[in-house]
Amino acid sequence: MSAGRAGWNVVTTASPAVGANFGITDDLDRDSRYRRAHEVVATVERLWTEAGTSPQGRPAIVQAGGSAEGRRLAGERADAVFTAEMTLDAALEHYRVVKEHAVRAGRRPSDVSILPGFALVIAATEREAIDAFDAWEARGPVGYTQDRLSGILGVDVGTLDLDAPLPAEIGEVPADPVNFPASLSFRATTVRFARERGLTVRELLRAYGGYGHPIIVGTPERVADTLSEWFLAGAADGFNLMPDVLPDGLTTLVDEVLPLLRARGLFRHEYEAPTLRGRLRG
Ligand SMILES: Cc1cc2nc3c(=O)[nH]c(=O)nc-3n(C[C@H](O)[C@H](O)[C@H](O)COP(=O)(O)O)c2cc1C
Repeated sequence: MSAGRAGWNVVTTASPAVGANFGITDDLDRDSRYRRAHEVVATVERLWTEAGTSPQGRPAIVQAGGSAEGRRLAGERADAVFTAEMTLDAALEHYRVVKEHAVRAGRRPSDVSILPGFALVIAATEREAIDAFDAWEARGPVGYTQDRLSGILGVDVGTLDLDAPLPAEIGEVPADPVNFPASLSFRATTVRFARERGLTVRELLRAYGGYGHPIIVGTPERVADTLSEWFLAGAADGFNLMPDVLPDGLTTLVDEVLPLLRARGLFRHEYEAPTLRGRLRG
C-alpha cells in the first residue's frame, strides 16, 4: 500500500499508562520490556518474510531508547535510531556503542543509521531567532517545561532550588536501571548536559525548552554548522529535525539550510533509493 515507504517505530515506552492502553497491566521492568521487544521484533520480521515481499523487502524498523538494552536492540534490529543526546560527546558514545552492537550481530555498521534529534528555531539573524524562541516559550502552557523535566529526571522540579545546580542525589547518582520507569538515556544525557555546562535548574529549564533534545536557535548558517559538526565528528548519519512551527519551519529548513549543506557536499541532491529503508541508508 505504501509502495515501500512504511516504517515501524519500536519503542518499549516510558509510561505504564501506555501499556495499560493496550491491556498490559503488569508492572514490567526495563529488562523485561526489552526482552519482549527482541522477541516481538524477531517474530514480526519472520511474519513479514513469510507474508511476501514489499518493494523495500520489509518495512523499516526505527528504535528510540538509549539505555544499554535499548542500544543493543537498536544495533541488532533497527534500520534507524532516533536519539536524544544533549551533547556531542554523549552522541559520539551512543553512535559507537550502537554500531558495535550491529557488528557483533553480524551486520554492517551502515545497516543502522543514527539520527540524533534537534529542535530548531531558525531566523535571519541570531537576535530574531532568540526573540522567536522567547515568544514560543511565553506562549507555552504554564509549567509545561517544568513538568517535562520532572518526568525526565524522575523528581518534582518544583521542589528544587531553581537558582542552584541539580542536587547531588540527582546530578551524581545514576537512576536505578531496573526500576526507574522513564527513559534512562533522556535522564542521563540531561544530567550530563547540566553538569558539563554548570547550569542552574532555571538555566537548564531554559536550555531544554520542554523538548528533551538539544535546541539550535539561530541563523541557517548556525544550524548548518551544528549539523555539519555532529556529522563530521562521527556522531550522526542523519538527523531527526523538529522545527518550531509547521509547515513554515520545515520550508525554511529546506530552502535555507539544505542548500548550505549541499554546498559543503554533505547532503544529497537527489534521492538514490525509492523506498524508506533505502533512503535511511543513503
Ligand atoms: C528519542 C526518543 C524518542 C522516544 N519516543 C517515544 C515515543 O514516541 N513513544 C514512547 O512510548 N516512547 C518513546 N521513547 C521512550 C522509549 O519508549 C524507550 O524505549 C523507553 O523509555 C526506555 O528508554 P531507555 O532505553 O532510554 O531507558 C522515546 C525515547 C527516546 C530516546
